[in-house]
Amino acid sequence: MNDGHNRAIHYLRVSVTDRCNFRCAYCMPPRGVKWLPRAEILTYEELLRLIAVFSREGIRNVRLTGGEPLVRKGIVGFVAAVKGLGMIEDLSLTTNGSLLPQYAVALKAAGLDRVNISLDTVDPAGFAKVTRCGCVKDTLLGITSALEAGLAPVKINVVLTDALSITDLAFFIDQVKRYPIAVRFIERMPLGGQDDPDSGPDIAAVKRLLEEAGHGRLEPADTKGNGPARYWRLPESQGTFGFITPISEHFCGACNRLRLTADGRLRPCLLSDREIDIRTPLRAGASDADLAALFAAAVRAKPQGHSLCRTSGYIGFGRQMSQIGG
Ligand code: GTP
Ligand code: 5AD
Ligand code: SF4
Repeated sequence: MNDGHNRAIHYLRVSVTDRCNFRCAYCMPPRGVKWLPRAEILTYEELLRLIAVFSREGIRNVRLTGGEPLVRKGIVGFVAAVKGLGMIEDLSLTTNGSLLPQYAVALKAAGLDRVNISLDTVDPAGFAKVTRCGCVKDTLLGITSALEAGLAPVKINVVLTDALSITDLAFFIDQVKRYPIAVRFIERMPLGGQDDPDSGPDIAAVKRLLEEAGHGRLEPADTKGNGPARYWRLPESQGTFGFITPISEHFCGACNRLRLTADGRLRPCLLSDREIDIRTPLRAGASDADLAALFAAAVRAKPQGHSLCRTSGYIGFGRQMSQIGG
């Protein structure tokens, strides 16, 4: 289905929970996080029905997000049910990786195609500071588990913070030389709920440092994905580097996605608070045709773009990142 700006919408990001076992500084406030009441969260049956209806309207790619999707009980069975619809060509999941040692093999067997894993630094103290309660060993083990389970291609998400060091870049260069992974550097989006607006390096500095430390020039590359990253490769590497630049270089012109929040709102754009309530009609007995009409309304409501820039400052959005799923 095309939106009003001639963009084909075939990708749905489904947040299955707002809960998380980490508290990343750019995603959640330090304390006083208010979880959504359980009764407001869509059940797996409700989510599955919506995905089935939306797939008939053209959705072919589904990404499960959170919070942390692996903290929701029954996630493996839900993955199997979504894949079992037979309509979703690319089923993926974005995770902090800490529970992958437990789940990677079962997720693969259930039909999950691939995972994107957040890892902002490999320094234990830096990692603990960014995530406020995560342990870097768990996430590193999660990455190994995903590679071994064949959840390919594995992508690593590195949000740019001042925790990122030259040691991290050397680690990531070594990883992309050895494994067919993609390491993506992401400009931090200033959504509400963040406490410490620290300044990380900018994308240009990261590119320069990668070329210096990697002893070669970054050349444009292709990597399987449906998202906003632009990919580059260093010589003699199996993997790639990606850059996601919502601030310095907008990618709205190629946007292909809608979001479904855990509490049943269709969100046409990450960076706009406009949402369409689909839970109320769903629970009031809406037909598949009614639900498809709401999907079409959300596609029509997609804005042409956003206006965030380096000087925007914090946006007082109604939701924090963990409630939208990134
Ligand atoms: P693939 O390319 O399919 O692997 O996925 P992806 O990069 O779209 O998904 P992922 O969940 O790994 O998101 C990576 C980063 O891109 C996160 O910081 C997201 O918040 C950001 N992102 C994803 N979609 C959008 C979008 O529509 N707009 C903006 N501004 N950022 C997005
Ligand atoms: N800006 C950019 N990326 C973010 N993520 C979470 N919060 C932000 C933010 N404020 C990333 C996570 C995860 C993905 C879903 O979004 O690191 O990889
Ligand atoms: Fe949890 Fe991901 Fe948010 Fe970190 S970015 S607190 S891992 S949902």
